[in-house]
Amino acid sequence: MDREKIISKTEEFVKKTLIDAEGGHDWWHIYRVWQLSKTIAREESVDLFIVELGALLHDISDAKFNGGDETIGPAKAFGFLKSLEVEESVIEHVIRIIENISFRKGLDGQEFSSPELNVIQDADRLDAIGAIGIGRAFSYGGFKNREIYDPDIKPNLNMNKDEYKNAKAPTINHFYEKLLLLKDLMNTDTGRRIAAKRHAFMLEYLDEFYREWEGL
Ligand code: ADP
Ligand code: NI
Repeated sequence: MDREKIISKTEEFVKKTLIDAEGGHDWWHIYRVWQLSKTIAREESVDLFIVELGALLHDISDAKFNGGDETIGPAKAFGFLKSLEVEESVIEHVIRIIENISFRKGLDGQEFSSPELNVIQDADRLDAIGAIGIGRAFSYGGFKNREIYDPDIKPNLNMNKDEYKNAKAPTINHFYEKLLLLKDLMNTDTGRRIAAKRHAFMLEYLDEFYREWEGL
């Protein structure tokens, strides 16, 4: 099977797999990360085939929604790529990417890195900030039944992996606990440039949010 065909088969597989996914983590998140990965990859020397497969398969089973099991996603991706008879070395690399991409994993120390992972990780993090990121945060907060804001509950900047997973704080706190930290975690120059713009937009949003909160 040629590479183009493998990509379109993968697109089809991921769409089908995510049919019931929650709003912030659905096919369209994958779509955006895929497109953004290609944009960033243009300015990096990476294997575009691996970047595209990794981007498409990076979130097919979120541990948040299956009792914390972080092996299901990589196992599903492995089975799928095997079924298409993708080269062993490509499968291996894509699986390592999926295993190592998440923010929560980053909190405990990442075990693997590659230029391709760097590109996808930037794209994934960029989708959590800016206008889209704000939308996703409130969507996730609603899904978890959280308040949008409570001035008496202060952000917690020193969470470990479990505290981060189980946090019950209002959604605005998530800006300080994660979203505003992401611009400094970019791996690539293109990522940094896009992050700066999206970051500035979030600061402006927060400014307006607090003004409106006080009736201004
Ligand atoms: P990713 O899939 O990018 O690794 P997560 O699984 O942590 O990241 O989160 C998916 C989306 O849900 C992101 O946009 C993130 O900002 C949002 N999200 C995660 N945790 C929270 C939270 N506690 N409050 C609000 N939004 C959250
Ligand atoms: Ni993602």
